[in-house]
Amino acid sequence: MNVTSDDIKAVYEESNATQHYLSPNRKDNVKVYWEEAFSRFVFKQAILSIDTPAREKLRVLDVGAGIGDGYTLLSDLLAQEPSLDKCNLDYLGIDISPEMVETANNLYKNNTNVRFEQADIRKQIPESPFDLYLSCGVPYSHLTHEELETVLKILFERILKNQSPCAVVIDVLGRYSIEWQPHWSESRWNYNMSFFKSEGEAKPTLMSFYSHEHLEKIIRNAASEVNCPIKNLAFFDRSIVVGRHTSTGAFNRELPKYRNLVNSLLDPNQETDLNQLILRVESGDAPEYIIKFFHQFSGWWNTIIAEAAELLNESLEVNRVQLPANIESLDVLIKQNLANSVLTNDRQRIELAVAKRLQQLEQTCEPGYGVGHDLFGVVWLDTRNS
Ligand SMILES: C[S@@+](CC[C@H](N)C(=O)[O-])C[C@H]1O[C@@H](n2cnc3c(N)ncnc32)[C@H](O)[C@@H]1O
Repeated sequence: MNVTSDDIKAVYEESNATQHYLSPNRKDNVKVYWEEAFSRFVFKQAILSIDTPAREKLRVLDVGAGIGDGYTLLSDLLAQEPSLDKCNLDYLGIDISPEMVETANNLYKNNTNVRFEQADIRKQIPESPFDLYLSCGVPYSHLTHEELETVLKILFERILKNQSPCAVVIDVLGRYSIEWQPHWSESRWNYNMSFFKSEGEAKPTLMSFYSHEHLEKIIRNAASEVNCPIKNLAFFDRSIVVGRHTSTGAFNRELPKYRNLVNSLLDPNQETDLNQLILRVESGDAPEYIIKFFHQFSGWWNTIIAEAAELLNESLEVNRVQLPANIESLDVLIKQNLANSVLTNDRQRIELAVAKRLQQLEQTCEPGYGVGHDLFGVVWLDTRNS
């Protein structure tokens, strides 16, 4: 079933979304230290592989921009990344919600390189060329699968006409996130924006969920319908164990509140019950390779927890496995934490080291299958000779 522009606007406006986005309380430790860092990593990959010589200007179209989180993430990335520090942003955010657009334009009224316009991506895609077609916060999941294919088709047609190398970042909800395991058999279902909980009950709305195979098929169909050659494609999972709905329990009540537990590991003032962090994903209505992935991933995750528990003289029943080489040693991380004057005892140093190792696992062993809260599809196009 298609959703009208008014339905989408109502979801955000009736649930006071603009207030939610403006509230400083919406950012927990996981959002700031794990999720935003991972989004910047994906955007960096996207920008660095656009086939253009050293650039002074990066022209960005942010689709479903809200109040401009994409702009903040990009400008932080450009400031941090030496290979991009000469690059100036020329940013246009579009959003279906007039209230978001008005708030965003007010927030950035002093930045001449930033502007926001109201547009429904299904009907209006700006004609001018961009280097990066960005999205974050899963705006494309509001579209049906067919609508996404149509939007991409129009986008690829524009890109073909503009003959300018670019990257397209497509952020959608992952179909096989543990947050909604009971829904794994469906690819579009009624989703509550329950992260707006603090501001009252949100209106349920139909959203689309993707495995990487499904998203890849849609991208390739759209490109081939308009004869737009794809130079490269990549997929990234963000928040495999710590998606926001492991905190709300809205769609999988059985699940331990992993996000709260990781927030607690990252907070030196809290002591975390390591036993609750054990990850169990034994079954679910998903292809065999997804179940296999969770089996392997939970083996790694639980080994990290068990190694820390042992140091704290707590015993956990876990079958330990060999960890991937890119997970740093617990001892080394604890030693590094000795230099941190905020951490005054061993338990704090161990908990922070565990958080670091779990983050390394989430960020370097994600398979890009659609097993996290977000699935990013990145498409690189170079249509100069087409
Ligand atoms: C969860 S918010 C993400 C906002 C922002 N990108 C961020 O990361 O904070 C999704 C946004 O997509 C917008 N949106 C939904 N459907 C859209 C459409 N068809 N065209 C343009 N924007 C849309 C919504 O109004 C909302 O602001």
